[in-house]
Amino acid sequence: MIILGLSGALNHDPSAALLIDGEVVAAAEEERFIRDKHARNRMPLEAARYCLKAAGINPREVDVVAFPYAPISLAGPARWHFAKRYWYAPDRSLDALLNGNRRFRRNRTRVMEAGTELGIDWNETEFVPVEHHLAHASSAYHLSGFEEKTAILGVDGKGEYATTFFGYGENGRIHKIREFYDPDSLSGVYGAITEYLGFEMLDGEYKVMGMAPYGDPDRYDLSRLIAPDGSGFQVDTTLVNTVGLRRYKEDGVGFYFSDKLVDWLGPRRKGDVADEPYIHYAASMQKLFEDWCLKLLETYLGDILRETGKLAFAGGGALNVKLNQRIVALDHVRELFVQPAAGDSGTSLGAATYVAAARGEKLSRMNHVYLGPEYGADECLASLEASEEPLHFRLLDDVPAETAEILAAGNPVAWFQGRMEFGPRALGGRSILGCPSAPGIADRINEQIKFRERWRPFCPSVLDTVAAYIIQTDHPATFMTITFDVN
Ligand SMILES: [Fe+2]
Repeated sequence: MIILGLSGALNHDPSAALLIDGEVVAAAEEERFIRDKHARNRMPLEAARYCLKAAGINPREVDVVAFPYAPISLAGPARWHFAKRYWYAPDRSLDALLNGNRRFRRNRTRVMEAGTELGIDWNETEFVPVEHHLAHASSAYHLSGFEEKTAILGVDGKGEYATTFFGYGENGRIHKIREFYDPDSLSGVYGAITEYLGFEMLDGEYKVMGMAPYGDPDRYDLSRLIAPDGSGFQVDTTLVNTVGLRRYKEDGVGFYFSDKLVDWLGPRRKGDVADEPYIHYAASMQKLFEDWCLKLLETYLGDILRETGKLAFAGGGALNVKLNQRIVALDHVRELFVQPAAGDSGTSLGAATYVAAARGEKLSRMNHVYLGPEYGADECLASLEASEEPLHFRLLDDVPAETAEILAAGNPVAWFQGRMEFGPRALGGRSILGCPSAPGIADRINEQIKFRERWRPFCPSVLDTVAAYIIQTDHPATFMTITFDVN
């Protein structure tokens, strides 16, 4: 069966993934083709074209188009929860009850139009919507390779209504245990504080995580942002995850936090400096997020973890590598699998794998992310020669040895090899390299190449033969999704 997964349901990170008889043959994000980070408000047309072309598939041969956004019934708790919690914005509240699948219908129209543009014949190809959190869950569980019962955690800003997912996978099927709904979103709170700290939501969260270690998590107590509610939690929407009149506004732009939060914590951070008190807020937010995720993990998935120790984790929150370090450190977690495109770009893969598994196809562990386009030496040379600005280049005789010399001399290297990575992590296909023993290399890369703040982290690449000695664990870490303490 040929399944084309498309993402972009929430108007960011559109991507495409192609599965043939359960095998992931190609996957790519639209942003890489149109050179617009997160490709907001776009459909994954170029990405889908690439996937079909790479696999030599005619669009008319596609059996199913899977999409990570589904209609939500009024018979379930999601829309009622939303309506009740958004009482202060009656237009939204009533809309959830009376017209709660409006966004789904709009998405379906967008997919239909995109499909037609790609050359898909909707008389022959089936459109299958998959609930957003099931798509996230599937992208982790079905590609984990775990055979035993597997706990599944999903922490995300928001899908249709669900924000946080607890469930398990067994014999290739995903079962829900508990979901939390908008506005009760842990990632949403993190996103709101990301905005408060002067970064863009859905982009700057990892900068908050990078800033956190510079601060003291106990200096300011942010715990009132999230209150316990039975066995779950409730977000204080007078402070964060706010909409409508409760929103703080600056130059006509509304934010997901309130004036009340600004009265409490002071003005929103601006500029590129990591200074007080903001570094402490970042530290406090990171800790609050970690503590809540761990607490809920124990409440809903503790039993399953004690039984098999296997955990699959997806959603934007799964890209929080510091949280993942604490999860791996738990006694009853034997192995954590985070599908590296854990954010919304991975939901194309999630929706496609969900449909494949539901139709009896066997999926295996994702061992690499090299699923995007590749270019040979001839194409690279042609591109260099075609440059309007004259470029200096030469062909290296011994690429590894000469590259090592350049690195050892303290120079950064832009490394371009094979197929492009799927997901946000540069894993040796398109990476900027530096030798960590060359003094000042991190500052040099930040200033000259990535134009980024000096306090942002880098990821080390370590041979697996010595990794256990250096990072003090033999837990696999192929995809840059977990941090470790260095020996
Ligand atoms: Fe998502």
